[in-house]
Amino acid sequence: DAAEKGGYEHYMRKEIHEQPVALRQTLSGRIDIERGDADLDVSFPQGYLESLEEIQLVACGTSYYASLYAARLLEQFADVRTTVEIASEYTFDGGRDPWRTLVIAVTQSGETADTLGAIRRAGGAGARTLAVTNTLGSSVTRETEDSLFIRAGPEIGVAATKTFASQVTTLALLAVEIGRKRGTLAATDARAVLENLRELPGAVQQVLDEEARVLEGAERFVDADAFFFVGRQFGYPVALEGALKLKEIAYDHAEGFAAGELKHGPLALVTGETPVLSVLTEGARPGETLNNVTEAQTRAAPAIGVTDGTVETDSLDLALEVSEIGHMTPLVANIYFQLFAYHIADLQGRSIDKPRNLAKSVTVE
Ligand code: G6P
Repeated sequence: DAAEKGGYEHYMRKEIHEQPVALRQTLSGRIDIERGDADLDVSFPQGYLESLEEIQLVACGTSYYASLYAARLLEQFADVRTTVEIASEYTFDGGRDPWRTLVIAVTQSGETADTLGAIRRAGGAGARTLAVTNTLGSSVTRETEDSLFIRAGPEIGVAATKTFASQVTTLALLAVEIGRKRGTLAATDARAVLENLRELPGAVQQVLDEEARVLEGAERFVDADAFFFVGRQFGYPVALEGALKLKEIAYDHAEGFAAGELKHGPLALVTGETPVLSVLTEGARPGETLNNVTEAQTRAAPAIGVTDGTVETDSLDLALEVSEIGHMTPLVANIYFQLFAYHIADLQGRSIDKPRNLAKSVTVE
């Protein structure tokens, strides 16, 4: 067991630190800078992507938040209506021609019963189906027409970490490919996205190198009453995912909010004992988000922000830096939230790899 953890005390911390390698695997051989295109091993029928009317993503837990991130990329690059649904809530409504709706099951394990149920309903109604998974030969790959592997390598910790980054990255590549096929993403724009993806592993490594600062922050705030995560645009799913990590492994009260929604209710919960963690980077409307954070600070909340230097962050209690890599910057910010949840949980002596009441994959609906 100790050998498998490679010197780390927990699989979760090992898996957080594996992200640069996992992301390189995810991207390997899939970027064609010259053509300005992604090269995925899925062959859709001739003309299928061009005639696509809608994309629906179905998923649970962390995979659901990865899907929320990816849906924005799909809409922007491929100019196709994209919805995301919690798998257990899903019913298929595919319009007049169900085949022109591509339903994508996003699932690390490929075994989540809710997600399998949803994709079965979609397939049964005549939609085209695709699995985005980490697990070769998993059940979802037998339920869908095509499979796309995120190649993150085995993830043992119950709380998903490296697979979130690899899911978003794989779906970003898919968004580029669909956008190129449909003619909605110009080669120069695609090249810029692909360059950002190429820079992603290095940007993640820079965050990992700052772990000591995250530990200091965790020590400072470990006794907080609750933790609020806020973000806009691509920062919003990252806020939701950041809060989920804390709930799962630290058992602390944590919530993710769209930053603009703070003033529509959650602000009533804010006190000097509720740190607010925010995404203040490219792709997450940092200026507006900072205004919302300031409103929380006015109510005495300590503020921790992840910044790429776009906005002035002197007023924060703790500013954590990331490199700006376009749409993928909030994904890099998420690594700080993973480390923060890990250290908050570790300081409290939690059972990090096997949190109470949770399972790595849930095979009941
Ligand atoms: C469980 C795990 C979560 C995971 C979710 C979806 O609840 O504890 O970490 O995000 O299942 O799993 P999947 O394998 O479908 O991505």
